[in-house]
Amino acid sequence: MTNRKGLDGKGKLAVAIGTLKLKNPVMTASGTFGYGEEYAPYVDLNRLGAIIVKGLSLKPRSGNPGPRIMETPAGMLNAIGLQNIGVKSFIRNKLPYLRQFDTAIIANVYGETIEEYLRVSEILTAAGGVHALEINVSCPNVKRGGVAFGTDPDMVAEVTNGVKDVTDLPVIVKLSPNVTDICVMAKAAEAAGADAVSLINTITGMSVDVEKRIPHLKNITGGLSGPAIKPVALRMVWQVAGRVRIPVIGVGGIMSPRDALEFFIAGARAIQVGTANFVEPRATMRIIDGIGAYMKRHRILDMDNLVGSLRI
Ligand SMILES: Cc1cc2nc3c(=O)[nH]c(=O)nc-3n(C[C@H](O)[C@H](O)[C@H](O)COP(=O)(O)O)c2cc1C
Repeated sequence: MTNRKGLDGKGKLAVAIGTLKLKNPVMTASGTFGYGEEYAPYVDLNRLGAIIVKGLSLKPRSGNPGPRIMETPAGMLNAIGLQNIGVKSFIRNKLPYLRQFDTAIIANVYGETIEEYLRVSEILTAAGGVHALEINVSCPNVKRGGVAFGTDPDMVAEVTNGVKDVTDLPVIVKLSPNVTDICVMAKAAEAAGADAVSLINTITGMSVDVEKRIPHLKNITGGLSGPAIKPVALRMVWQVAGRVRIPVIGVGGIMSPRDALEFFIAGARAIQVGTANFVEPRATMRIIDGIGAYMKRHRILDMDNLVGSLRI
């Protein structure tokens, strides 16, 4: 059966994340690709496996005061604080544009309370045109909600359970690396009915201006992303993939096809490209092409033969 947008799940690069069929395993990471439209001049949006939009809350949020971005060696720190236009404005002003593409649209959901997570999920489900929800229980840059939920397995389970009750869309739970054992969180999400987990969100870090002796970020701490975090993300994906049965989506420092392939071999069924979009807006296109070329060169027939193929 083909789904509504012609993503028939056929072809070498096709993958399934629960009931969500993608034509290839390359997604854009939330918060690094705006609402999709911003990248249309550079990227053929039809070629993406999925577009994950900026985290959405019930009401619009202006985020944290600046400075809230800082470049670091091999990465960046951000403390945006989930600035977004709010779920209703997204549905009214951004979703109609996204609906025209032959690409899965995944909404990233944020709440300060469990009730807010559920309400945003309900509104997005009712809107139609969203193919899956990614639940952000891992944002380190907000005072309430976000990572406060993602560091307690009971809270991860409660949010996941609640969202599953209000939606029939596939639910992806996005996990934080800022925990002692990410497998505990992944297992909690799986037991509560998550269709997939994505990992990792940013790693909490900071940077100091030594002349002024003040933090570079107004928020003091921020989330580290980019190549610097790739080995940590890869290790966590490998650990989680060995512990859960649901699909694992890898994210963290993926800049090249080779980076993406490392994640697939370690057990990720799909990957997300984040910070790379800022450095090279067409990074996703190059990564999709490179994965295809590798499969051809190694005569790998489909993603199932690649995912989790690490030899130890
Ligand atoms: C500027 C910025 C904004 C982000 N906003 C969100 C967000 O709204 N929701 C979310 O779940 N993750 C957010 N993230 C985290 C990314 O989706 C991703 O998990 C992280 O950056 C690691 O991947 P990368 O190293 O490829 O960037 C954001 C990251 C950056 C750099």
